[in-house]
Amino acid sequence: MDEGLIKKIRRNMSLEEMVSLCSGRTDWETVGYSKYGIEPVFMADGPHGMRVIENDGALGIPQGKPATCFPPAVLSACSWDEGLLEFVGRTIALEARSLGVDLILGPGINIKRSPLCGRNFEYFSEDPLLSGRLGKSFILGAKDHGVGTTVKHYLANNQETRRMTVDEKIDIRALREIYLKPFEIAIKEGKPMAVMCSYNSINGKFVSQSNYFLTQLLRNEWGFDGIVISDWGAVYDRVRGVLAGMDLEMPGNGGVNNQKIFDRIKEGKLKVTILNEMVERLIRFSFQAKENRRNYATNLEIEPKGHHKIAQLAAVESMVLLKNEACILPIDRTKIKKLAIIGSMAFDPRYQGSGSSKINPYHIDSPYERIKKLVGDEIQLFPHQGYIHDEVVEQIHLAEQAEEVAKNSEMALLFVGLPDHDESEGYDRTHLHLPQKQLALIRKICKVQPKTVVIVQNGGVVDMSWEHQPQAIVEMFLGGQAGGDAIAKLLFGENNFCGKLAETIPMRLEDTPAYINFPGIHDEVVYGESIFVGYRYYDFTKKKVRFPFGFGLSYTDFNYEPIDEPALTIDVEKMVTVRCRVTNSGVMNGKEIVQLYTGKSETAILRPLRELRAFKKVFIPAGRSAEVSFELGLSDFCYYNPTTKSWEHESGSHQIYIGSSSRDLPIVYPVQITKDLIHPINPLSYLSDFEKTERGQTILKLLLSGFEEIMGDDQTREDDFFMTMLANTPLRKLVEFSNGIFTEECIDKIIELVNSDQSLEGITFEKLVNCTEKKKGFFKSLFGGNEEEYYCIQSKVRDLVEDEDVMKILRNYFGDETFESDYLQMAIKMGICFDKAQKLLPDDFFSDEKLKDIDRDLKALAKQKKK
Ligand code: BGC
Repeated sequence: MDEGLIKKIRRNMSLEEMVSLCSGRTDWETVGYSKYGIEPVFMADGPHGMRVIENDGALGIPQGKPATCFPPAVLSACSWDEGLLEFVGRTIALEARSLGVDLILGPGINIKRSPLCGRNFEYFSEDPLLSGRLGKSFILGAKDHGVGTTVKHYLANNQETRRMTVDEKIDIRALREIYLKPFEIAIKEGKPMAVMCSYNSINGKFVSQSNYFLTQLLRNEWGFDGIVISDWGAVYDRVRGVLAGMDLEMPGNGGVNNQKIFDRIKEGKLKVTILNEMVERLIRFSFQAKENRRNYATNLEIEPKGHHKIAQLAAVESMVLLKNEACILPIDRTKIKKLAIIGSMAFDPRYQGSGSSKINPYHIDSPYERIKKLVGDEIQLFPHQGYIHDEVVEQIHLAEQAEEVAKNSEMALLFVGLPDHDESEGYDRTHLHLPQKQLALIRKICKVQPKTVVIVQNGGVVDMSWEHQPQAIVEMFLGGQAGGDAIAKLLFGENNFCGKLAETIPMRLEDTPAYINFPGIHDEVVYGESIFVGYRYYDFTKKKVRFPFGFGLSYTDFNYEPIDEPALTIDVEKMVTVRCRVTNSGVMNGKEIVQLYTGKSETAILRPLRELRAFKKVFIPAGRSAEVSFELGLSDFCYYNPTTKSWEHESGSHQIYIGSSSRDLPIVYPVQITKDLIHPINPLSYLSDFEKTERGQTILKLLLSGFEEIMGDDQTREDDFFMTMLANTPLRKLVEFSNGIFTEECIDKIIELVNSDQSLEGITFEKLVNCTEKKKGFFKSLFGGNEEEYYCIQSKVRDLVEDEDVMKILRNYFGDETFESDYLQMAIKMGICFDKAQKLLPDDFFSDEKLKDIDRDLKALAKQKKK
């Protein structure tokens, strides 16, 4: 790219021309200036196929030109196959080229926070690594035909309810580890041409106005060099958007907001240098698209049939076999001669979701038609509608007829699923159930026909509390236009199942991590579950799940064996290779998705038990083995430290788990991380943090022995307790807690000594602290007590509460809650005197007057006792 030319053009442009580039010319096109060589860029929706709209400005969701409808992300993610996603991206890009599209508005890589999100069908997974890797693959595939991609919706567009206004309260660790992670992977590794910023606001700021998300993270930290496009209508304050780094407002709206940019610059309230940078990015974007158009053929002839086959392959690679009791699948054509095919979705399948991603497919395969073609005259098919997607119409007769059909057959395939209106862009679901009529039908059919296979078509996971009824269950999700053919081939064993769940199927909605915080109230939603999303939550809380993340059956079996490894150790730069052997012990060729997770069983921080760090899909012929290896580095064991705002590791032993799902991990390798991570001591460090270094330990020892000396040797003091208290005190607090023995200068000196490499020789407690005798005296008096006179306020709390007569007096002044309080227990344990305890307690706990009255009563008691 000729950077000099870009600058030169920008300098030649008038302010009006510059601001005119900041929003679209139409709904799908940017502004061009032929005199500067800036050509308009044409974009279209298309995470799973192209939706090119001809009539610009049409309201609603107009139908696009015909294109291949590949399986939406909900299904393609279950392939866990980066190569496949690249292939799909490449094929979609070819269609984009032929339709004159420079930029695809996809892939969508948001995390599935709750199964209720109406748009989950457009997203890959609940796991950030899987989402990021598949997103990256799509981007790279599209690049092969010089077509740009737009990763969306950055950031955390995880619900449709009030998606344009909702403010999401998300802690920084959850942002980094879960919600930003897929974008970080896709952007760093895929280098897309654009990022689409989402409608929502995060922690009080619209993403479209957040300099932190759009500039500091995206460009400065991750090195993104493309443009940021607003989601359609995600601009609120355009001038703030400019300051944040939001380059292109879409769709075009006649320039209303461009005028605001122009005015603020004229008024001197917005620096033109900021606009300059933005305009240069927009020119670069247009040049890139122009270069692509020149370098890659545009007048391509698409072969719909060939692309249909690719869509079919993607669906075969992804559908998930969840249950297969008594191996009733694949259907044995030599034994089954009468097969019932029930459910309207067998004839009129649901193969994609609603909203902006809806494609106008070239062709749709119905499962029934494809099965019919596949079995020919070998099997007699008994088709029946079973239900219709209409809650109002009485359907009992349909169910009864279907029951008869199932009874008179040798096996039944029952196609169920969510109707189109149940899930869509724009709104969320409120429950996970299939329609009542379908649930009743499952019950009925399974009762009369034990050999029933339930096949589900859905964009978001559904409640499967009916799981025990059929003998087999298949998750078709949304199969794309060739899903019908794919399911036919899989059911009859022409292909083997090899998809695995990219999201957990929970037992019930109430078990899901965001259950109490979805979709929030009014315009606020709190991400209370933090990093515990999906399996991270179910595993940590030991929740039973219906089908775990990463789960999927095959018509063959795979066994896992470790390959002997020398003890694994990881240091900063060193990568380790981890290997295992997987054997196909069945009689059918198959593909297995080998998953690798890491965890740390003895951890000092709150972290998930296991996190996915690598995966590989391998083809293994029947009876053969494959050696599978993974490369891991330090970052595969890290977490995000919200205090230091950096990725960190814990040293010591960690575990590497390998297996076939998040809950079936037969191989466990121990691994040692040898590199210690030392945080320099600061005023807010705890004394326990001193333990982590040798220098820290030496200083800590000095401090503690100094304390011991001041406090005297009290045999009854529970040292552990006192030490624990001290260890949990931030260094800076010693200034207030020690009655001035520690000054701020002392603290600075201690910090310097621990962090530096100065010699510690000759350092004593006295040299570290500012300890006059008077101050020592106060400290000592906390614990000193009046040993001669027993019934007075100078006595130790511990001794006073032992005496029944004293307790009678004290009960006149305090309620039960005081005697049960932590404060009292602490004073007892530490051996603090009653009057000093009063000084150390919060002001409203008990007043000086009360103390005087108690003293008076105690003295009276002493007198009485003497008598
Ligand atoms: C959606 C985007 C889409 C855009 C253009 C918005 O409503 O959120 O995903 O790309 O419309 O259709």
